[in-house]
Amino acid sequence: MTDHTRISDLPKLVGQTATLRGWVMTTRSSGKIGFIMLRDGSGYLQAVISRGEVIDEIWERFEQLTQETSVAISGEVRADRRSPGGVELGVRDLEILGKSEDFPITPKEHGTTFLFQHRHLWLRSRRQVAIMKVRHELVQAIRDFFYQRDFILVDTPILTGSIGESAGTLFETQYFDLGKAYLAQTGQLYLEAAAAALGRVYCFGPTFRAEKSKTRRHLTEFWMVEPEVAWFDSEDNMKLQEEFVSYIVGRCLDRRREELKELERDTAPLERVVPPFHRISYTDALERLRALGAEVPWGKDLGGDEETLLANSFDRPVFVYNYPKEAKAFYMKENPADPRTVLNNDCLAPEGYGEIIGGSQREDDYDRLLCRIREENLPEEAYGWYLDLRKYGTFVHSGFGLGIERTVAWICGIPHVREAIAFPRQMHRLFP
Ligand code: 4AD
Ligand code: MG
Repeated sequence: MTDHTRISDLPKLVGQTATLRGWVMTTRSSGKIGFIMLRDGSGYLQAVISRGEVIDEIWERFEQLTQETSVAISGEVRADRRSPGGVELGVRDLEILGKSEDFPITPKEHGTTFLFQHRHLWLRSRRQVAIMKVRHELVQAIRDFFYQRDFILVDTPILTGSIGESAGTLFETQYFDLGKAYLAQTGQLYLEAAAAALGRVYCFGPTFRAEKSKTRRHLTEFWMVEPEVAWFDSEDNMKLQEEFVSYIVGRCLDRRREELKELERDTAPLERVVPPFHRISYTDALERLRALGAEVPWGKDLGGDEETLLANSFDRPVFVYNYPKEAKAFYMKENPADPRTVLNNDCLAPEGYGEIIGGSQREDDYDRLLCRIREENLPEEAYGWYLDLRKYGTFVHSGFGLGIERTVAWICGIPHVREAIAFPRQMHRLFP
């Protein structure tokens, strides 16, 4: 199968003969001259077939082509400024490899439910291909960012014995004779142990939350990247976040222009994503929200609508910091200046995308952490190892988690996270 060229390599082969393998998107014909729009994952190609220049059998094959037929096409690579990639193919030979009858997804409009039922086929469409390529770029940018800064990748377990975030959204499974295991909601607790070994670490993997909500920001399985840094306070943490988010957005702008154009993304708001991001305390944020007509009682977490409202008044991402203790997870460090609050931050993306990052300085005091574990009614015995980190050389440390699908949705400008992952998992969706 090495006898063919990928579409993306064709510009180098102008004047030569090439064979392509791919799928037919559309065809049209004047009777004398025919056009095939071909895709192979690497790009899009217009192939032109002239009835007078091929034997009848080849022209007949052309006439049998339907949407998503797989084919091998050979011909001459010609420069053509109007074509995608600046080249087209003059067809000499055409072979049908796999027929495709009545492909369910046609150029007409389909409902969302129908499209998600056919997600395995819908992935072939131009928009979906563009989204997957932006996601791919984002993931690579994330890995490069941490690699360049000497963070060590530590893979944390998916089957866990201690609750990472909150008891409310756990997926449970029976684990042999040891009782219940939970699918990881976060890798953070394990990463804190690794930070004491390696200083700067990150994990990157799927995380699971039994979210019963059907919002456009929630999946039950989503990917999260989480760095954790020793000798880092909440301020340092926010600085790292703004550098990080600016870098990964910048990379997509640099290297995925074509895809963002395909998605009709207005890139101007993304160009503004440079440090410093705005910063506002939770308490001040409530004031601002009140002025905007939204009343949130002090102590309550911000909901999606409030995040949107708040973020809309800023021209780039905004950090909301020092939330009330009761609104956030047990491991966040109590704020010495105002013990009703914790040293944490959320990072809200603009344009209505809301929280993309949750981060905090971690409670490094043994007694206070134990107290919080008890207050939250978490099973104390499952946290012995986690408390050990405060017993043997405790250290100031901070970290954060960025949700990949929310970030992809934001960068691509798509309304819902479910399109930001190839096979989304939601409360009511397990197939395909
Ligand atoms: O704010 P969260 O819950 O933070 C943590 O899990 C921390 N342990 C991270 C850390 O400090 N190491 O989640 C972090 C991010 C959110 O900001 C959001 O982007 C994403 O994960 N997220 C979800 N994305 C899709 N669907 C869900 N159900 C999500 N829940 C969180
Ligand atoms: Mg959060």
